[in-house]
Amino acid sequence: MTIAPGAQLGAYRILEPLGQGGMATVYKAYHPALDRHVALKILHPAFKEDPNFIARFEREARIVAKLEHPNIVPVFDSAQHDGMPYLVMKYIEGKTLKALLRETNAPMPVDQVLAFIRPVAAGLAHAHAQGVLHRDIKPSNIIRANDGHIYLTDFGLARIAQAGESTMSQDMVIGTPQYISPEQAQGAPVNERTDLYSLGVVLFELFTGRVPFSADTPYAVIHDHIYTALPLPTAIHPGLSAEIERVLLKALAKDPNARYASATELIAALEAAANIAPAPPAVARVAAPAPPPPEARAAKPARRFNALTCGVLAALALVLVVGCSVLAFTQRDNLARALRLPPPAQTETLRAARDRVNANPNDPIARLRLAEALANAGQLDAAFAEYDKAIALNPRQPDAYLRAGKQAERANDLARALKYYQAGQQVLPDDQIMLLNIGDVYLKQKRYDDARAIFEKALRFDPGNAQAVFRMGEYYRAIGRVAEAFREYTRALVMEPDLPEAHYGLGMLALQRSATDEARRQFQLVVNNPKTPPDLRDDAQRQLRALEKK
Ligand SMILES: Nc1ncnc2c1ncn2[C@@H]1O[C@H](COP(=O)(O)OP(=O)(O)OP(=O)(O)O)[C@@H](O)[C@H]1O
Ligand SMILES: [Mg+2]
Repeated sequence: MTIAPGAQLGAYRILEPLGQGGMATVYKAYHPALDRHVALKILHPAFKEDPNFIARFEREARIVAKLEHPNIVPVFDSAQHDGMPYLVMKYIEGKTLKALLRETNAPMPVDQVLAFIRPVAAGLAHAHAQGVLHRDIKPSNIIRANDGHIYLTDFGLARIAQAGESTMSQDMVIGTPQYISPEQAQGAPVNERTDLYSLGVVLFELFTGRVPFSADTPYAVIHDHIYTALPLPTAIHPGLSAEIERVLLKALAKDPNARYASATELIAALEAAANIAPAPPAVARVAAPAPPPPEARAAKPARRFNALTCGVLAALALVLVVGCSVLAFTQRDNLARALRLPPPAQTETLRAARDRVNANPNDPIARLRLAEALANAGQLDAAFAEYDKAIALNPRQPDAYLRAGKQAERANDLARALKYYQAGQQVLPDDQIMLLNIGDVYLKQKRYDDARAIFEKALRFDPGNAQAVFRMGEYYRAIGRVAEAFREYTRALVMEPDLPEAHYGLGMLALQRSATDEARRQFQLVVNNPKTPPDLRDDAQRQLRALEKK
């Protein structure tokens, strides 16, 4: 939504748009009563849908307006226009650090970094002393005025966007997670050290010329912030001193307690490091050849994390729990993947399968293959009879229950599917896939509370089970609680980046709110992922075709 130059918003006359971010558009405006220019930050109309939003906005605006510090952009006023809330701020003629970084992505000399970060840290320390967190420290919120003065802006705005029910806002907040702390990404409680981590990411970017984590999707970036070891700054920029590297490593510790305790402490450590090892001249740095990508980024995190870090991170209880359960999950996941592969009998003829059973009538695997061949040939009753025989021959074979249940689901015989899964669960109570399949059938049967109980049980067994988290998303979507659904899909994607089912769910949520571009993007991610099971790929392709017609 754009507002035309000349429009009058309360006491302010709009002059021109200055820029657009994820949650708002900023305009230059004129305030005749005081004869001065101001910046008007008009929040996205989507926020209007959230009934609690205005109250939260006003509360937050009042807090932010109390911050008075030379390095914090002052907020003068807050009001609404057509139900759209806006903030009136001091207009800063200048450039954001983001714009400055775009002009050069080379490492910045140490003295220049300090010139930027000292005032930012001072503003931050002031806000923290008042009990106000920023929650969204990043280069686009740091402005250098043309006179060289540095300002920090957008205090608390992330909270306004995040805390509400509006899925729109959460969707947008997840848009640029390069600067997010691990605890913030996990929805855990945050404190001053969360801002210091984000400031650490900005420092890392200034010192090395790039952010530490920049995977393809927002979810993968978040995953890296939580799980992947920080790429060594000196591996990216060999000219950097070991002292500065140590400051970066501490500022970017995954465990908040291992970070600097305050902005003042961080800046003091930085000054000390800069004095110990004066940086080589700027020219030499800029001319340095682009370093190869650090090893840490070349390898995919998930596996290595499991094998490597479960022990190393012993101090970090939460991460450990999640991390080790990722390992547990990976094993089950292999089974899940195996189950999604075309069944073995698909490649063999019915006759061959029968011959095999005749040769070994007591071989449960032969029975299972015959059952699959019969099902593929459309002879369902005969197939179920063979599944039953396979189960009788070896009741502890999960595939028999799972395959039989899937065939029943395909035939829309949900009661029969449930019987198979439940029988499987009786014999194999620890089989989480069996459990999740029971929940899936409950969802299809609209037994929502039962489904939820099943998924919660799976999560109690293993809080890091991305498939179970994804299904909580399905549950919430089914009962129409979109904000919670969004949250669960996102969590699932953080645990397992690219999880196609979760992207599909996000696509469906986007469709619900008519965000067709976003829906298309999500369904495309499902289609492009080689790990997507065939049925799900068909569904996503169908959605894409339907979107094309729109
Ligand atoms: N007080 C201000 N004075 C002058 N220009 C400003 C001011 N505040 C913001 N801007 C300009 O408006 C642009 C948009 O700001 P906005 O905060 O909406 O988005 P952002 O910070 O770039 O991104 P995000 O929404 O993800 O935080 C900024 O990049 C900046 O160029
Ligand atoms: Mg901003």
